[in-house]
Amino acid sequence: MKLVDSISRMATLARMYKKEGKSIGFVPTMGALHEGHLSLVRTAKKHTDVVVISIFVNPIQFGETEDLDKYPRDIKRDEELARTAGADIIFYPPVSQMYTDGYSTYVFVEGLTDTLCGASRPGHFKGVATVVTKLFGIVKPDIAYFGQKDAQQAIVIKKMVEDLNVGIEIKVLPIVREEDGLAMSSRNAYLSEEERRDATVLYRSLEKAEGMTKHGEKDPKKIIKAVTEMITEVPGAKIDYVSIVDTKSLKNVDKISQEVLIAIAVYIGKTRLIDNIMVKPVPEAHSARKGLAV
Ligand code: PAJ
Repeated sequence: MKLVDSISRMATLARMYKKEGKSIGFVPTMGALHEGHLSLVRTAKKHTDVVVISIFVNPIQFGETEDLDKYPRDIKRDEELARTAGADIIFYPPVSQMYTDGYSTYVFVEGLTDTLCGASRPGHFKGVATVVTKLFGIVKPDIAYFGQKDAQQAIVIKKMVEDLNVGIEIKVLPIVREEDGLAMSSRNAYLSEEERRDATVLYRSLEKAEGMTKHGEKDPKKIIKAVTEMITEVPGAKIDYVSIVDTKSLKNVDKISQEVLIAIAVYIGKTRLIDNIMVKPVPEAHSARKGLAV
């Protein structure tokens, strides 16, 4: 496995692989690697000849009051994990190379970025779309891998790739969870023991939501109320949002009549965690029968 900390070296390697007819799989990350990231690397390894993982804590996607400075960084540990998962290159450019003096070009995806996480983190997705565009330009992957964990991010990137004719295939892989259901996240490292227990409410509340839809509930308001109540019961938890939205437009739905994304963001103490599930409504006849049986 190669460790590459220079943009020009990475670009040269990418050109070399292309010339040799090798396909490049790419997993962009901010490091502090866990099974969620590694599942992306392993899948990339199955599909492509050369797997590049980038580790770059991107300053422009963090708000002024957010955790840029304390974001966990441990390149030695990451190196080992990435190697074991099958990465061929770790690309970790310094901030000074990615954002040179006078840097002034940004990628802004309209419409999809002012809701959900975009509402509470203004500028966040502009920072994400910009860095991903830059990384794509350097690494020149054939396929790039993202996690469903950051559902809105994946949708924003897909739209950016489509609108700008980027010509890279985007694959979105399932959320990897801890045994108790908590979605793996680099930010879980911030949680105290008690907060770690409280944090299980995110997935438990989503399971509750899923159960309600399976029993035929089609009114998003009722589901949002139940999820909200469940989270509010945990004293250390504070809701940022609980939303049920269309999986493409990310607009709130009035009725669950097709597949929807149930997305939540919750502060556990000072740590903001996100999670989501996709649910499909049960067919009308089926839900009516269930209704009678209850
Ligand atoms: P980061 O949070 O490090 O995540 C890197 C990738 O891993 C993202 O595609 C994310 O959705 C995925 N991921 C994280 N936790 C996961 C889990 N539990 N299961 C499955 N996939 C998971 O997302 C970012 O970095 C940045 O915004 C980035 C795209 C690198 C741009 O800076």
